[in-house]
Amino acid sequence: MRKRYGVMAAVVLLLIFGGLFYQRLKGEETEHKKSIRIGVTLYRGDDSFINTIRSNMEEQAKEYEKKTGIKVVMEVVDAKGNQNAQNSQVDRFISLGYDAICVNMVDRSMASNIISKAMDADLPVVFFNREPVEEDMRRWEKLYYVGENAKESAVLQGNILVEAYRKDPASLDLNGDGKVSYVLLEGENSHQDSLIRTEWSIQTLKDGAVPLEKITGGIANWDRSQASAWMEQWLKEYPDQIEVVICNNDDMALGAADALERSGIKRPVKIVGIDGTPQGLEGLRSGKIFGTVQCDNREYASVIFKIAAAGSLGQDVKKEVTLYQDKYYECSQKAVRAE
Ligand code: BGC
Repeated sequence: MRKRYGVMAAVVLLLIFGGLFYQRLKGEETEHKKSIRIGVTLYRGDDSFINTIRSNMEEQAKEYEKKTGIKVVMEVVDAKGNQNAQNSQVDRFISLGYDAICVNMVDRSMASNIISKAMDADLPVVFFNREPVEEDMRRWEKLYYVGENAKESAVLQGNILVEAYRKDPASLDLNGDGKVSYVLLEGENSHQDSLIRTEWSIQTLKDGAVPLEKITGGIANWDRSQASAWMEQWLKEYPDQIEVVICNNDDMALGAADALERSGIKRPVKIVGIDGTPQGLEGLRSGKIFGTVQCDNREYASVIFKIAAAGSLGQDVKKEVTLYQDKYYECSQKAVRAE
């Protein structure tokens, strides 16, 4: 009997010391990792907003190197709107033994393939801007998403116009017919932000008692030249009616402004966007755009980077970044007006 107790005690001690030793080893491994490798794939490298995030991430990587002495290899690739190409890029990151990947999905409903491969390779994934469906996000604890709250962006955008109307109804109702006549430019219809931004922007105007009349609208896929083509057509069809142009992002707002400028129409049509990209803010300064909603894109990029770096080092990501449901982060936003 005594012998049996002796063996049991020895096993318990072995487990305790073994565990401590393993933890120390792991700790040392984390402490001593002198470099991390992060792969980033973008749905389109020519998207203005995504480019702003990309350059901010590159800056973050440099700052992190300076601060921690840990070398960061960050490879950024462009999927050029092709989901198959993006899947191959992820395969390559995995075969090169990268420590974490950041994925801006081409098709946000197709994340499950990438997730399965990352799980097999034990590779943390930070999705951003194009949100995988919840069912996919729930598959593993090392999946994260960084983005913006689309309803918040839209309410801020709507309120820019509500405030302008309250101050001076004639600033929006240019022909004084008692209605604010608007056209709408929307992003890709498969993007989680498009539908919600449109819905809540209009709802905010209604809640703010702005008398609205929709003239028409179109999908311009976030793109400046597609938006410009729509607007050119509408200005021909409704040359005296358009008073407000509501756009799901800044690039489309700039496209609408391009067409307005080309048309030679001098009425002070009010154009609003979302993003606060450098180009959008420049449009605001030069009076092309009336207002936008700026997400803090330094914060946005820094959170993506922090999660990827902590994940690469096997650290507890939740200690580095405040996440909700342990995987989501929403970037802060504010309204910016021309004045
Ligand atoms: C941004 C757009 C961008 C799109 C790309 C949106 O959240 O507002 O400017 O083109 O994401 O996915």
